[in-house]
Amino acid sequence: MYFVANWKMFGNLKSINTLDKVIKFSKSKEIKKGRLIYCPPYTLITSFFKKFKNCLIDIGAQNCHESNDYGSYTGFINSRMLKSIGANYVILGHSENRKKGETDKLINQKIKSAIKAKLKVIFCIGETLREKKRGKTKPILSKQIRLGLDKINKKSNIMIAYEPVWSIGTGNIPKPKELEQTVEFIKKKFRGKLPKILYGGSVNPQNISNLKNINNLDGFLIGGASQNSKKFIDIVKKTFN
Ligand code: PGA
Repeated sequence: MYFVANWKMFGNLKSINTLDKVIKFSKSKEIKKGRLIYCPPYTLITSFFKKFKNCLIDIGAQNCHESNDYGSYTGFINSRMLKSIGANYVILGHSENRKKGETDKLINQKIKSAIKAKLKVIFCIGETLREKKRGKTKPILSKQIRLGLDKINKKSNIMIAYEPVWSIGTGNIPKPKELEQTVEFIKKKFRGKLPKILYGGSVNPQNISNLKNINNLDGFLIGGASQNSKKFIDIVKKTFN
C-alpha cells in the first residue's frame, strides 16, 4: 500500500523537524506493507531528500514542466532537474492545476517528459461535483485517462490517483460502494499489467476505516492530513489494523 503525502504549498525549513516521528515509524515493524512517499514543495525537496537519507521514505514533486530540455521558461522546473535532486515521483494532473488551465494535452506532455526522465508518475483524475450530479463521472474519467495517457505505451511507471474534485479538502468522501465501482471502472480501462490505483480526497485518521477495504485500491494520496506527522502515521497504522 502506498501513502503519498501531498504537502501542496505548505511548509518551510522548520517543518523538517516534524518528520522525525515519521522516520522513526518508517523503521519500525508497524509500517508493515506501507510505502511512504513525500511530495513537498520544490523548495524542500533537497532537504527532505537529505533527511530521508537513511530510511526508505521516497520523494516526489507536485508538478513539472512539459519540456525535458533546459530552456527559457522562467519560473519552471523540469523532470530531469527533479530527478537530479533525488525525486523519484511526480504528481501530474492534479485538479488544482487543471483548474489553473492545465489541459489533458499538456498533462500528457508532462507525463511523457517525466517518464523519459525516469520519474514515476502519480496521475490524478477526478470529476467535479457538477459533473458527478449530471452523471458524467465515467465519461470524464475515460476522457482524462484516454487523453492524459495518449501514446504512452509503458504504463508501468504510472499510478492513477482517483481524486474526486468535490472531495478534495472538503471532508466529504465517496460512499464505499460508489468508490469501489469507480475503481473497478478505472481498472477496466487497462489491459495487461494494471497500474496501481490510489484514492485521494479528505483522507484522514477518522475516515480511513471506510476506505481501507475498497477492492483493488493500492493506497492513498493525502493532502491536509499528511502535513501532520501524527495524523499521517495514524492513517497508515489504521489501514493495517
Ligand atoms: P486533501 O487533498 O487530502 O487535503 O483533500 C488531497 C489532494 O489534493 O491530493
